[in-house]
Amino acid sequence: MCGIVAYLGKKVAQPILIEGLKRLEYRGYDSAGLALLSSPPNGGIKINKTSGRISALEGILDGLDNKESLGIGHTRWATHGEPNTVNAHPHLDYTGKIAVVHNGIIENYGTLKTWLQNEGAAFASETDTEVIANLIGYFYAGADQAGGAEISAGRNKFEWAVQRTLQELHGTFGLAILCSDFPDMLIGAKKGSPLILGLGDNEYILASDAAAIVEHTTQAIYLSDNEMVTVTPKEFHTKTIDNITVSKDLEQIEFSLEQIELGGFEHHMLKEIFEQPDCLSTCMGGRIDNKGHRIRLGGIDSHLRELTHTKRLILTACGTAFHAGLVGEFLFERLARIPTETEYASEFRYRNPIIEDGTVVISISQSGETADTLAAIEQAKERGATVLGLVNVVGSSIARTTDAGIYLHVGPEIGVASTKAFTAQVAVLSMLAIELGRRRHISSNQADMYIDELAQIPRKISRILEQSDHIKKIASANIDKDNWLFLGRGFNYPVALEGALKLKEISYIHAEGLPAAEMKHGPIALIVDGMPSVFIATAGPQYDKIMGNIAEVRARGGKTIVVATEGDENIKQHADHLVTIPDAPELLQPMLTVVPLQLLAYHAAVLRGHDVDKPRNLAKSVTVE
Ligand code: M6R
Repeated sequence: MCGIVAYLGKKVAQPILIEGLKRLEYRGYDSAGLALLSSPPNGGIKINKTSGRISALEGILDGLDNKESLGIGHTRWATHGEPNTVNAHPHLDYTGKIAVVHNGIIENYGTLKTWLQNEGAAFASETDTEVIANLIGYFYAGADQAGGAEISAGRNKFEWAVQRTLQELHGTFGLAILCSDFPDMLIGAKKGSPLILGLGDNEYILASDAAAIVEHTTQAIYLSDNEMVTVTPKEFHTKTIDNITVSKDLEQIEFSLEQIELGGFEHHMLKEIFEQPDCLSTCMGGRIDNKGHRIRLGGIDSHLRELTHTKRLILTACGTAFHAGLVGEFLFERLARIPTETEYASEFRYRNPIIEDGTVVISISQSGETADTLAAIEQAKERGATVLGLVNVVGSSIARTTDAGIYLHVGPEIGVASTKAFTAQVAVLSMLAIELGRRRHISSNQADMYIDELAQIPRKISRILEQSDHIKKIASANIDKDNWLFLGRGFNYPVALEGALKLKEISYIHAEGLPAAEMKHGPIALIVDGMPSVFIATAGPQYDKIMGNIAEVRARGGKTIVVATEGDENIKQHADHLVTIPDAPELLQPMLTVVPLQLLAYHAAVLRGHDVDKPRNLAKSVTVE
């Protein structure tokens, strides 16, 4: 949560920081602020901040003639303290010399705050971040004495005070820090929250995400946990927070500016829904050789043998990625006969999980930064499991923490509601399950057939997207309904969960996803006249059963919105609204059946007048537990 960006260079910092914050706004949008620093005699730290979005901050900055070329900025997803102006970042320390922006959570902030208050430090906000600013200020004020010989030997006081502070913090942080006595120095530090330093032409941009950097440079270094970077106009150096120098490799930021812009679409979510055919082609291209009927997943090559002989798979993830994991569970069990469980990462880590010899854990995450998923990975590794990652963001924490992994390669996903990442996660899980299936259970002919079918999925999604206007009419006809059910069976049960999540998170309509057969065990009591139930009733072994469930809803006056297979004439008389998908084997259908549900949620949210890309109370990556 939260986005941080900092600039040090020759240009005016403010517009660069604002632009960077706009690109990070998907990470949180409760409040925003900037701190700018210039040299004496007119130097010092200037802070402008406000509750609300970046546009509100721009309103405040309008007309100010800020010419500084060093500054830090923040866009907030509130954790400690309500989203008002006082709690907005940057936070200034009690001496007025230190300014801090922070992404993460300081778990021991209460103890530190009490201690600092006893030492005479005043606090203005309710945030955990102010503790960091005040602690740096405290150590800085006493550096000449406490830093002793090191400081007298010329060690940088500001850097020393930051290091002393970081050693006291429990929790997670991505930080950018300024000190008014060092008007040409910027310090960044990381533990558990991402931080990247972009290296431009005589300029540096430090940010939570490459999206804020790519406009300026594609050369970057990615800080690891417990590392910090000190940047001056001439150079930068990286150290651990214990002052041991570390050398970092220069890396290439892989995506372009174009990929993070709207490109004519009204919202990122809609753009990302429509990108799915291309994204899946990229994700599978080079991995599926459908002439040779082979699947090659380079990232996990060295673990393929272990996977082939694994006794048990555990898939762990959160939110939409968890739903993709559930599809994976069906795939691995059906095709490869590997016992598989999918677990919420947040539950897995706290339930003393049993990891026996031969268990492989696969963690799934779009952002690669989800705190619960990272914690589950640590737990699994501690217990000796091999942990593989299915991640979209290249170089993210999960990508670095796992033993090996497969990137989704769908480009940046900006919309808070995850769409193209889901279909790509399912595509990667399908490829892996087919390959393991071919090695363990299914015949080569069956594997070949699935590979051929998989290669046709992008084209089939394009056909579904043509129904967007029709789906908008369905959303419109039901827009006044405040309770919806989403029902599916087998491989389409996780899709029902995903459809309900999409509707909830962006349209704020209450929705419940269920395995269709479970409805009669309780939720059927919710059905009232006109209440919409979305059924996934595509061709497959459970078709007749789900027809029975549709009848049960209609008998009670409920309305049915049915996703069915093209050419199914019978379904028409049972559906108040019908959307069709091209035929596909049951186990590959989730990549198709989810698309109408994504569009339904999107159109419902727009019709209700919501900000689709920035739904209330949410942020794109949940970097707090
Ligand atoms: O980045 P991750 O895939 O790890 O994120 C997991 C969830 O936070 C995420 O899928 C969330 O549920 C989305 N808002 C769903 O659209």
